[in-house]
Parts: sequence; C-alpha cells; structure tokens
Amino acid sequence: MLSVRNLEVVYNDVILALRGVSLDVPDGKIVALLGANGAGKSTLLRTLSGLLDVHDAEIRKGAVTLDGNDIGHLSPSKLVKRGIKHVLEGRRVFKELTVEENLRSGAHTHRKNMGANLDKAYGLFPRIADRRGQMAGLLSGGEQQMLAMGRALMSEPRYLLLDEPSLGLAPKVVEQIRDIVVQINSEGTGVLLVEQNATMALSVADHGYVMETGRVVMDRPAAELLADDDVREFYLGLHTGDDGDTRSSYRDVKHYKRRKRWAS
Ligand SMILES: Nc1ncnc2c1ncn2[C@@H]1O[C@H](COP(=O)(O)OP(=O)(O)OP(=O)(O)O)[C@@H](O)[C@H]1O
Ligand SMILES: [Mg+2]
Repeated sequence: MLSVRNLEVVYNDVILALRGVSLDVPDGKIVALLGANGAGKSTLLRTLSGLLDVHDAEIRKGAVTLDGNDIGHLSPSKLVKRGIKHVLEGRRVFKELTVEENLRSGAHTHRKNMGANLDKAYGLFPRIADRRGQMAGLLSGGEQQMLAMGRALMSEPRYLLLDEPSLGLAPKVVEQIRDIVVQINSEGTGVLLVEQNATMALSVADHGYVMETGRVVMDRPAAELLADDDVREFYLGLHTGDDGDTRSSYRDVKHYKRRKRWAS
C-alpha cells in the first residue's frame, strides 16, 4: 500500500500547500482525489513521485510510505523502479518524437518485456497504434493523453498517478479515458486519479478523498460520496438541477482560470 500520513509540504520555504494530509492507495484499487483549484492535489502527486525538488518544495512534516517503508526521500527514478509512475497534468509527450519513440522512452528504467509492453499499450489504445510512426505533436489532445498514459504503463507500474487526464477533452473522449482507467486497474494496477470531473472519477473509484486548501475534508467510499446530495453540492461542486442534470462547477472554474492565464 502507498500511504501518506500527516503530510506537510512547503514551496519556496513559505507556501504551505499541504497541511497534514493522510491518504492511502491500496494495491489494485482506484482512489479518486478531488477538490477545487489550488487545493493541493498536484502537490500530493508530486510528493508521491519525488518531484517536489524540481518545484523547490519539500516535505516539512509527516511520512510517505510504501508497504510501511519510508520513501519520502527517494528520487523520481528510484520511485519509478519501486512501481510509482506519475502522468503529469497537461498531456506531456515528446512532440518531436514518434508515437513509438515516446512509448519506448517510457521504458528507460524498465527494459524488460519491451515488445510485450508495446503490444499491450497498442492493444489498450488502438487509436495510437494506427499512428505509431507519426510525430506525437500531430496527435489530437485525447490521443496525446492516451500516449502519455501508454508511456507510463511501459514501466509496468504498481501504482499509476493520473493528474486530470480528462481536462479539456470532449465528453466522448473522457468516456474512453475512463474505460481505459478501469481496464488498467482490472489488470492489478492501483490508480490515484486526480480529477475535476468528480462524477467521472467517483463512478470508477473505490474510495474518494476531497481536499480543500491543503487538507482532506472528506474521506469515504466513492459510492457514498456520489450518493450524498450534501456532499455533491458543497464539496464536489455538483449541482443537481430540476431536470436531474448535473454539471461540475469546478470544471467550469478551471476552464475559466486556464483561459485567463493564457490570455494574460
Ligand atoms: N511550483 C509552485 N511554486 C509555488 N507554489 C506552488 C507551486 N505549485 C503549486 N503551488 C501552490 O500550492 C498550492 C496547491 O497547488 P496545487 O497545484 O497542488 O493544487 P491543485 O489542487 O493541483 O490545483 P489545480 O486544480 O489548479 O491543478 C496552491 O496554493 C499553489 O499556488
Ligand atoms: Mg493540479
């Protein structure tokens, strides 16, 4: 099991981004991590994959453990070798490399079973299989997300950390991403799924956590979170209208933020 206990993380020695977070990702389960912009979701993923250094951040208190052993001080490549793989927000692929070169690069710490893992990735993502010789930068947004996930799977992770895989994608593509998460998990990989699309995440998760300004404010089985109207309304920003329709206001907020940042 991958766990954090009473975790405090600071950026630049001053910005306290996580304020005593505890969370578990049991083997073979899907855990949804939800919350508004700036809640600390990506910071938690960076902590688990050893990327705090890169962002001038550090663990101030608490522990990160894998099967009870402290892993809070390990480098990203050591953590990949222990089976923890992080798919960063924003579909990071090597745009100038081909689809297949991208997949191969995902196996740099794990050269075993390269051929079988390539076949597996192509089986999981037929849309990128058809484009294996094409430059990754030419793929659609959804295909780049699939490639980023396929690349992560090349190291046969025990835990996959996904940071907002559905962001900015059309509903049909979001459904495909969701189905793929389910399939990856059905083969035994534990998934920590950060999402603004709370309904999508909770529909596949076993357990859900909701964060607010660096703290976990809800920690319950996913089905319970989805079924509780108060939770939906106050913590998940899901509004159930008269016609039973729901929308995620977090997602709207995020799109607004992205547009604003881009325009400025
Ligand atoms: N590189 C950084 N340097 C300084 N502060 C940061 C950095 N990254 C994040 N923070 C701060 O840490 C807090 C948590 O940010 P984080 O990105 O983890 O939130 P998030 O839940 O992933 O939000 P979002 O939904 O916008 O992706 C915020 O206050 C943010 O401003
Ligand atoms: Mg984030």
